Amino acid sequence: MKLSISLALVVAFTSTTVFVHGGVTTYIIDNTSYPGYVWYDPLDGQKDLIQRTWDQNPHTDPLSSNLTCNYHGTPVPGAFHAPVRAGSTIRTSWNQNSFGWVHTVGPVIAYLASCPGGDCSTIANIADISWFKIAEEGLRKGFALGGPRGLNTRTDYWDVVVPLGLKPGKYMVRHEIINLELAPVLFYPNCAQLEVQGEGESFPADNFLVKFPGAYSTSDPGIAISGKVKQDKFTKNYTVPGPKVWTG
Ligand SMILES: *[C@@H]1O[C@H](CO)[C@@H](O)[C@H](O)[C@H]1NC(C)=O
Ligand SMILES: *[C@@H]1O[C@H](CO)[C@@H](O)[C@H](O)[C@H]1NC(C)=O
Ligand SMILES: *[C@@H]1O[C@H](CO)[C@@H](O)[C@H](O)[C@H]1NC(C)=O
Repeated sequence: MKLSISLALVVAFTSTTVFVHGGVTTYIIDNTSYPGYVWYDPLDGQKDLIQRTWDQNPHTDPLSSNLTCNYHGTPVPGAFHAPVRAGSTIRTSWNQNSFGWVHTVGPVIAYLASCPGGDCSTIANIADISWFKIAEEGLRKGFALGGPRGLNTRTDYWDVVVPLGLKPGKYMVRHEIINLELAPVLFYPNCAQLEVQGEGESFPADNFLVKFPGAYSTSDPGIAISGKVKQDKFTKNYTVPGPKVWTG
């Protein structure tokens, strides 16, 4: 454990010049593993995935179209929706080449969006869909940065529960890591397609719904703090950006 932490620190400190980045590489849903898009392999030949395409580079502008589902963020040929029962857990793993994940200063956040027309693959403009937050972890309100609970040490894997009451349908899931070590801030979003099943009848009210881009601004307290948190080891008043979590 100690060894891997030292390695992580070395990589973190050199990453400003080396630029090894990454994203969600695997989804495990109800014991089924769904491999992600492989950013360093040619797009040709990648098919039958739930995850949409992405680029390993982080995104710095909260108003960029890249904030929705990462660069391009398109479905691959044969893209499908992974079945998931409301109340089940989605486990994601992050990877950065073969280094695991090193950007541990900042929150991990998960959103869902209902796909109009019952098919996430055919959405004309993903900037139009409305997202609601279902989970947030890591650096968060009331937790000290610098202590183990202030870091998103969950990136080996992170379990998120699909709200039990959520009404069935096709949904896009958007996982995001925000790296607050540097200025400008670095966003790492990844999207995948789900078919939520169950008997739920709930859907979040409008005040829980946001657009990407649109949900964040560089002046949000939880984003404006980027680049300062490394020195401020005692930040206890962190506000995760975006709307409140909807639990169904
Ligand atoms: C997943 O696997 C575990 C262990 O084999 C089993 O107990 C559980 O019922 C499985 N869950 C689903 C949803 O299949
Ligand atoms: C989106 O991200 C890509 C890859 O990092 C970058 O080349 C491009 O300029 C970005 N586009 C916008 C609109 O920010
Ligand atoms: C905590 O941060 C919020 C902004 O996120 C700010 O409005 C508030 O004044 C801060 N409270 C303290 C005690 O610093």
